[in-house]
Amino acid sequence: MDLFDKLESRPGPLGEFTSDGYGYYTFPKLEGPIGPEMKFNGNDVVVWSVNDYLSVGNHPHIREVDKNAAEKYGLSAPMGARLMTGNSDEHEALERELADFVHKPEALLLNYGYQGIMSVIHALVDRNDFLIYDELSHACIVDGKQLAMAEKSVFKHNNLESLEKQLKRASGKMKPNSSILVVTEGVFGMTGDLGKLKEIIALKEKYPFRLLVDDAHGFGTLGEDGSGAGTQLGCHEGIDIYFGTFAKAVALIGAFVAAEPRVIEFLKANTRSQIFAKSLPMPIVVSARERIKLIRQNPQWRDQLWENTRKLRTGLIDLGYNVLPSESPVTPVLTEGSTELAQTIMREMREEHGIFVSGVAYPVVPKGVVLLRLIPMAGHTDEHIQKTLNAFEAIKPIVFKEVDEAVTAE
Ligand SMILES: Cc1ncc(COP(=O)(O)O)c(C=O)c1O
Repeated sequence: MDLFDKLESRPGPLGEFTSDGYGYYTFPKLEGPIGPEMKFNGNDVVVWSVNDYLSVGNHPHIREVDKNAAEKYGLSAPMGARLMTGNSDEHEALERELADFVHKPEALLLNYGYQGIMSVIHALVDRNDFLIYDELSHACIVDGKQLAMAEKSVFKHNNLESLEKQLKRASGKMKPNSSILVVTEGVFGMTGDLGKLKEIIALKEKYPFRLLVDDAHGFGTLGEDGSGAGTQLGCHEGIDIYFGTFAKAVALIGAFVAAEPRVIEFLKANTRSQIFAKSLPMPIVVSARERIKLIRQNPQWRDQLWENTRKLRTGLIDLGYNVLPSESPVTPVLTEGSTELAQTIMREMREEHGIFVSGVAYPVVPKGVVLLRLIPMAGHTDEHIQKTLNAFEAIKPIVFKEVDEAVTAE
């Protein structure tokens, strides 16, 4: 069979939705400067779907820095991978600043978090090792696991008994040159709950392992100083390798890992997706430095983010919505229903109320469940929040129709 013909018969778990809802439910185009108010299909919408948590993306000073950096360096430099011809003083300075921010001795920049963490996992473990990860891990961890040569096992989400079972099993099979790597997340991006980092770290007393934490959503948003989930939970020293991305609170591309120097030195020479790929362009690096500096200088942005999160969440709960007990700004609203319901809610919110929310249904979440995920930003105002709550009030008959019908049928 011709390969391309075959592709039509297996569109993949999301394929059906990407073709039917293209441009609306999938690949929508939010236009205008990044912020709480943008344009969708030519209409003004209040946006709850972008991860610019601290509203730095369109900060006037940052826009100026971006412009000047692009003018000074262009978008090409430096050419080549870091290892060959793509290094610069700016890249190295950013690494020092990141390490300082997250209280680790050294950091290594990654071009994209996704590929970066895949390669980090791949590089860290070999065929004698054991890799144990949380079942709700982000796709990049799952893909990193596919590349890794180690023996892999999964533990139930945030379930310490399940993790301990896997640790015990691995410890029992270890050879003298075997090691264990445990991977989890600081914040689980769909549900907003935090990894049980403190409890996981406590297991180091009983089992010999190293811990890698993907803190994509926690970096910049959690902890008194924004240094992430480890700080928030009072256990950041127990995180052996900390991963943060610029794709959320820094509103940029790029990412990093931070750890002790011998680990960073090893990763510099062994993360294949970085060694064989062009390094981050200068304007990105220059802008990342300035953004990190601003984030550190403006803790009130984090306070505002949390204030907005609290107002949004309380408002939704008061309206009768089932808001999952998230411990991060991620605000997940769960309801029973079908894919059609998820689409109706999104359409109704966008077309009738000027509110842009994203929802997922099966196969992203279990069948019969609709998850609307709202991402508050520091830049949201009380008016944005009220407008959104009014819309959620107005769509209640639609949202709860399937639930009410199910109850009536019982
Ligand atoms: C938990 C988590 N890890 C990793 C990534 C990938 O990071 P990046 O966008 O920098 O590739 C994301 C998404 O951005 C994420 O949500």
